[in-house]
Amino acid sequence: MADSLTITDNRTGKQYEIRIADGAIRAMDLRQIRTSPDDFGLMTYDPAFQNTAACRSRITFIDGDRGILRYRGYPIEQIAERSTYLETAYLLLFGDLPAPADLDSWTREIGAHAALPASIPRILAGFERDAHPMGMFLTAVGALSASYPDAKRVADDASRGLQIRRLIGQTATIAAALFRHRNGQPSIAPDPGRSYPANFLHMLFDGDAAASQPVFERAMDILFILHADHEQNCSTNAMRSIGSSQADPYAALAGAAAALYGPLHGGANEAVVRMLQEIGTVQHVPAFITRVKRGEFRLMGFGHRIYKSYDPRARIIKETADRVFAATGPSPLLDVALELERIALSDDYFVSRKLYPNVDFYSGLIYQALGFPVAMFPVLFAIPRTAGWLAQWDELLGDSDQKIARPRQIYVGPERRDYVPVDARTPRSVIA
Ligand code: SDX
Repeated sequence: MADSLTITDNRTGKQYEIRIADGAIRAMDLRQIRTSPDDFGLMTYDPAFQNTAACRSRITFIDGDRGILRYRGYPIEQIAERSTYLETAYLLLFGDLPAPADLDSWTREIGAHAALPASIPRILAGFERDAHPMGMFLTAVGALSASYPDAKRVADDASRGLQIRRLIGQTATIAAALFRHRNGQPSIAPDPGRSYPANFLHMLFDGDAAASQPVFERAMDILFILHADHEQNCSTNAMRSIGSSQADPYAALAGAAAALYGPLHGGANEAVVRMLQEIGTVQHVPAFITRVKRGEFRLMGFGHRIYKSYDPRARIIKETADRVFAATGPSPLLDVALELERIALSDDYFVSRKLYPNVDFYSGLIYQALGFPVAMFPVLFAIPRTAGWLAQWDELLGDSDQKIARPRQIYVGPERRDYVPVDARTPRSVIA
């Protein structure tokens, strides 16, 4: 039995052999199916790309039914337990775990590029104290495009490598600088002598002993590892789409961060905590669940396009939360979150829709326990996802199958019509 489809077009009676490779057919192979020589040929219609592979990738593998997530073949559970964010970033970008000398030079290079160009603190200083951190973050990242004009040489390996190191280093520095600006505090320069998470906490809290505990440093590193990549999610799709026009990586990453900002994506961690705060107590959970089931709003932090079982990252985050709360005391919202999960996992509305806690359900409780305001949470997602966005961008530019992304459409608008003089037009109030 050949790996192919035999398609009969019932409009013409013609048959076509369409090759199957890697569980997919090439959409372009459908264009030969036409009713006449001037027929454009068949397209696929797939809003939100629910069943469309836009690329071939070697970076991250997800099996949503079995709750499997692997970075370059390594199970996320082992990476989270034994690796660090910088080592994971190296793995995602270069395809394997670094040998000691490679890890040392990688760590040194990131540290050497973590300081910001002088213009960025001036730009951040222009924001109000209550400016949303994600608006500040994506502005600062986009501004780096103006600071590093050499980044436009996207076909040059050395230039891409330099921008990759700058972005992995500077996204944490930007996040700390905007966090301190919002608190009315001066920014703190990165200290390359500290680990990536320890340096981040240092730039945020200025060496405050309570904030610098090893359990917090490790919790940040694990959260960074878990958020580093997730194959073709919405923001990675944005990164790849912008990157496909050969825009520089700062412009592309600003666009990716903008996509991440949405409450259906990386903004969900902020929305989860606001939801838990609104519910307030365990006693209010049943009434809230009833309103979710009526479709009044979504249970934020639940559900996933790919995972139709428990998000493996949520399980690891929940274990990490226990260790953080052992140091900080339990989160007042934890019981509400646990009760929400308990009810949702037994209620047919959620079970039938395969809605389980995702990466965003518990992460916010940890961020809050570490002293971050809720609005900061999406920025804490964007910092580590920078490694995944860059790995996907780098892979795109090296993929000979790829070209500038430009989807097609099915036009359903008006047929050709002639211009109407202004005095002959029907007022909208009459049309509506
Ligand atoms: C992230 O893609 C990634 O990999 C993303 C991410 C990553 O690492 O990059 O994993 C990070 O974005 C995690 C998701 C964070 N978002 C949220 O927690 C927001 C709440 N969840 C959703 O809105 C939703 O579940 C999505 C957006 C995550 C997925 O939506 P889909 O796949 O488009 O599913 P859908 O909207 O078509 O919903 C299917 C059904 C619908 O019900 P019916 O119309 O069939 O009756 O499930 C319902 C939805 O109403 N549903 C929910 C729900 N999510 C889906 N109902 C209540 N609460 C929810 N959270």
